[in-house]
Amino acid sequence: MSTFAEPAATPAALLLLGRGRDLASERGVECPGDLPAPSDPGLVERARAAKAALGDQVFVLGHHYQRDEVIEFADVTGDSFKLAQQAAARPDSPYIVFCGVHFMAESADVLTAEHQQVVLPDLAAGCSMADMAAISQVEDAWDDLVDAGVADDVVPVSYMNSTAAIKAFTGRHGGTICTSSNARTALDWAFAQRPAGRGKVLFLPDQHLGRNTAVLELGLSLGDCVLFDPHKPMGGLTREQLQNARMILWRGHCSVHGRFSLDSVNDVRERVPGVQVLVHPECRHEVVSAADHVGSTEKIIQTLAAAPAGSSWAIGTELNLVRRLARENPQLDVTFLDRTVCFCSTMNRIDLPHLVWSLESLAAGRVVNRIVVDPDVAHWARVALDQMLALPGITAKD
Ligand code: 13P
Ligand code: SF4
Repeated sequence: MSTFAEPAATPAALLLLGRGRDLASERGVECPGDLPAPSDPGLVERARAAKAALGDQVFVLGHHYQRDEVIEFADVTGDSFKLAQQAAARPDSPYIVFCGVHFMAESADVLTAEHQQVVLPDLAAGCSMADMAAISQVEDAWDDLVDAGVADDVVPVSYMNSTAAIKAFTGRHGGTICTSSNARTALDWAFAQRPAGRGKVLFLPDQHLGRNTAVLELGLSLGDCVLFDPHKPMGGLTREQLQNARMILWRGHCSVHGRFSLDSVNDVRERVPGVQVLVHPECRHEVVSAADHVGSTEKIIQTLAAAPAGSSWAIGTELNLVRRLARENPQLDVTFLDRTVCFCSTMNRIDLPHLVWSLESLAAGRVVNRIVVDPDVAHWARVALDQMLALPGITAKD
């Protein structure tokens, strides 16, 4: 009974290939009738053959935002935290092929053993959010905190969606990594590292996850949060603002989740009577505040699995996952929160041709696109990751 429909064409929408056209622009190409498979069907056979030839030598991880054609070959699917754990739990596989983005492959390299090699099928699969916090900018920001006389009170908490260099910075300064599912626990831990009322958190790089967790889960006020803009001297803040803040939020965001707006929520409530709005905490504060539920990728999947048949859901997260959820839950009415398309363009860089190329290369004894984190960076990143794994109640299913 699923009534999932592709987002409608709007003037601002990126039209899906073959699903309508916009004569006034270059967007979209109309192809009446059934489109053939997006990739050469022969590639499916080649992927199967290469994987079979590699056997236990290879373990393929697939993030929930990956294309269906890639997910089909994943040995395990998950969010970034679960996949990092899974990589660490496979010491017998010499090759880990990571179908996700660069920061995830880096975390896998940090958490796997020396003899294991991590491969990212397309090196262009980066993450715009992770790129919003360059290590030189973060080091400069720390100097600003020292100059403002607050650095001793600050504990860094960095989202998993950050480069290995940022994770290492976090480890060096006594902080922790967090994911969207354990951000509250991580913030509680960080504030407890300093005398009551004195602690501050520098939250990197996603301002929205930091703000949503601090305000909606810890009960801090919006006024307790300041936004540190790395492009401005002293983050665009005064010494007094830094001294009074409890949460220093880095000015970074996810370009995918940042597209959902309060209008998207109001609009879907009008369109779909009784709809429950479920969004990822990377969405803006006003969107998360207006939603009925908020949760990490894994929680979104679990919530729909437990939802009563016939209920209606509008999901605010990446489109590959929402389409899959709609297909896998035909007893529910699953719709995309926004009318415009919202794929993660870098996640989508990993396609079947790149996966086949990396698997066939491995089968031929050639390691392509290996991700290697510098040993010193890896050491300190591991310190911060281990701190996260030691937080109370952290499991892969959180
Ligand atoms: P999770 O995988 O932790 O849910 O994060 C969402 C995301 O944006 C991944 O890039
Ligand atoms: Fe980065 Fe957002 Fe894409 Fe995740 S969905 S990889 S945070 S840009």
